[in-house]
Amino acid sequence: MAPSVADAYQGQGLGRLLMERTIELARRLGRRRMLLLGGAQADNARAIALYRRLGFTAAGRFEQPRGAPN
Ligand SMILES: CC(C)(COP(=O)(O)OP(=O)(O)OC[C@H]1O[C@@H](n2cnc3c(N)ncnc32)[C@H](O)[C@@H]1OP(=O)(O)O)[C@@H](O)C(=O)NCCC(=O)NCCS
Repeated sequence: MAPSVADAYQGQGLGRLLMERTIELARRLGRRRMLLLGGAQADNARAIALYRRLGFTAAGRFEQPRGAPN
């Protein structure tokens, strides 16, 4: 999955709410760690700010086939 909020509704706290609910669900299922396997594109400041605020940290870097840094 990739968290997505429709353009007109971004920046109003919905992404944060979605991620908090997802993390809570994982916790209830007994999961203790969560990995954002697909990463985030390096220029996606909003997504990176959201993930950091929720406690995620960067585990590494990789490039997509066309060279975009993640
Ligand atoms: C990424 C996405 C899910 C975030 O959802 P959102 O509803 O826009 O985000 P929120 O309003 O919950 O804000 C999340 C945080 O980003 C911060 N933020 C908002 N706009 C920002 C910007 N332009 N630059 C940096 N940080 C920003 C907010 O301050 C907030 O932090 P806070 O909770 O500490 O105040 C949404 O923007 C989206 O769907 N983007 C397109 C798809 C995408 O990129 N998905 C992620 C793929 S990795």
